[in-house]
Amino acid sequence: MHHNTKVIPAGAYVGYPTIMTPQQLEAMREYAQRDPKAFWLEQADRIHWHRKPTQAFTGSFEGDVSIRWFEDGQLNASVSCIDRHLTDRADQVALISHREGRQDVEKITYATLHDRVCQLANALKHLGVEKGQRVAICLPMVPEAAIAMLACARIGAVHVVLFGGFSAEGIAERLVDSGAVLVITANAASRGAKMVPFKETMDKALEKSKGSHKVHSMLVVHTSSETVSMQSGRDHDFHTYVKEFGTEFTPVIMDAEDPFFMLYTSGSTGKPKAIVHTCGGYLVWASYTMGMVYTHKPGDVLWCTADVAWITGHTSVLYGPLANGGTTMISDSLPNYPVPGRWWDLIDQCKVTMFFTAPTAVRALMAEGDDVVKRRDLSTLRLLGVAGEPTSPDGWEWYHDVVGKGRCPVADTWWQTETAGIMLGPIPGVQTLKPGSASTPLPGLSMSLIDQNGAVIEGEGEGGLFINASWPGQARTIWGDHERFRQTYFTMSPGRYFSGDAAQRDADGYYWLMGRMDDVINIAGHRLGTAEVEDALAEDHRIAESAAVGVAHGLKGQGLAVFVIVRKDAADEVTEKEVSQLIVSKIGRYAAPEAVYFVPDLPRTRSGKIVRRLLRKIAEGQTENLGDLSSLNDMSVVDMLYERVMGQKAFEQK
Ligand code: WTA
Repeated sequence: MHHNTKVIPAGAYVGYPTIMTPQQLEAMREYAQRDPKAFWLEQADRIHWHRKPTQAFTGSFEGDVSIRWFEDGQLNASVSCIDRHLTDRADQVALISHREGRQDVEKITYATLHDRVCQLANALKHLGVEKGQRVAICLPMVPEAAIAMLACARIGAVHVVLFGGFSAEGIAERLVDSGAVLVITANAASRGAKMVPFKETMDKALEKSKGSHKVHSMLVVHTSSETVSMQSGRDHDFHTYVKEFGTEFTPVIMDAEDPFFMLYTSGSTGKPKAIVHTCGGYLVWASYTMGMVYTHKPGDVLWCTADVAWITGHTSVLYGPLANGGTTMISDSLPNYPVPGRWWDLIDQCKVTMFFTAPTAVRALMAEGDDVVKRRDLSTLRLLGVAGEPTSPDGWEWYHDVVGKGRCPVADTWWQTETAGIMLGPIPGVQTLKPGSASTPLPGLSMSLIDQNGAVIEGEGEGGLFINASWPGQARTIWGDHERFRQTYFTMSPGRYFSGDAAQRDADGYYWLMGRMDDVINIAGHRLGTAEVEDALAEDHRIAESAAVGVAHGLKGQGLAVFVIVRKDAADEVTEKEVSQLIVSKIGRYAAPEAVYFVPDLPRTRSGKIVRRLLRKIAEGQTENLGDLSSLNDMSVVDMLYERVMGQKAFEQK
């Protein structure tokens, strides 16, 4: 193994408000291992239960796979996030909302949050939304997004937050699959200098899926002055409609295992899948994981820049901080708009103490140079964090030394939509940090690295990253396709959950993530299945076959390159622009390819499988370490591809 050997002892952060001693952390790990039931029931006490659970895990990774936690418990998640804070911190700010281009930030206290959530809960009930029904939320980073999620939680509806970057087709597919009955969206919202047409895209999505979707109502938050067409009887202005309702709503009591929300993510097969999380286990996990790493002390402000449409937006922007009684910030700003260093200004202005972003943002911020950071104060910061992609040791050290001025621990946390919360990550100020490593599993988690032959690696080594036993925040199923859930995660090594990632473990038990082992690529923190791209292209009859691969990209981490074989009898030429537009229209803007190569053939094994690993190297212009090519059916394809790629234009970064 050849990773960074630098270590920063926990004691380097003088005065850091640690939550425990290293000895207590060890004792906690030992207790969790010795008596998991007692340990998890204690962690469950972090949240408010209507009826406390007496059971911890009841389920199995074997057979049909069934995952259940705290099964006899009952709760409403919004009570833990709002009501129980009303006794001692009603006037504390729960949510700081910053909107780019506006002078003032909006500060929403727990008391106000309660009222606004209850009003919307009443409105949703009035519109006929029932417990268990799905509500789709497609909003920019405005407080209404948080209020909408909490209002769904309050009435027991299952929220499905959809990313504003999805195309109309992408949204249509998800509306139909989820069976959503109501949509909450915006008119149009600015994102930097661009206007994102939320309502127009939603209208197109509904039109495309006419007859297959179940949406009967739409609430439209007017976040800008754009006027949009409103369909009478179906569409309502959010604020005008909601303000008529009362500010009390008795929370609907849910069983711990009732579905809480679902979130679409990409896997190795074509269709995006809705990962289902349930009420009790999810909220315990959000509270536990965020409490271990991003512990709120009085006066703390956490700013996680993730979009609410991702799991980090659910857990680190909303549910974790609010379940723990903290102050969380939500902003629609971009790191360098209107000026470089915009985020650093906001940290100073809003007195952010804990800042959490994606490695792709760290790379973009680093590219602006140190001066931009040094001109800002940033003295309120005490903790920095990242999640979503591997962070290089260089990026880590820059974040730590230049942004954190060496005073703030950097928590690189590894998790997934499926894990709901942090799995690997340091307890800040308690554990030694290693730049580029996501540290160790949180107490209560047991992980394994497994080699290609299915053997468990002991000690140092590299392999697929597996989780040996369930944890409360584990995804319960894929909506409508439990068999796909079982197949995807539980068949690689029976009895274990497979993450899809490869990792190394060093002699100290620290993990170093190596990227995905499956056909999922990570573009600026957005998961994309290469099969989604290939399926989109298959719809063009002039295209015989295509192969999509992820290639290294300096800012985005990975970018998309596609190889396209055009039918010999195609009626007309296919252009690079058409290929790009087809992908953008089927999936979304974030999936736009960096490079499109038209080729007569692809590298295949004798059994006809496309060798993607090789394609990736070719697209990156690598000529060495191509790996074992003995299985290739026709070696001459390799030279041909190199010629095409180098000739057409070597992969260039946009
Ligand atoms: C990757 C995002 C390296 C990984 C929270 C995982 C990471 C996928 C890290 C999940 C990290 C996440 N270091 N890689 N700290 N965190 N990943 O579902 O490949 O959007 O499987 O959840 O992101 O992406 P997802």
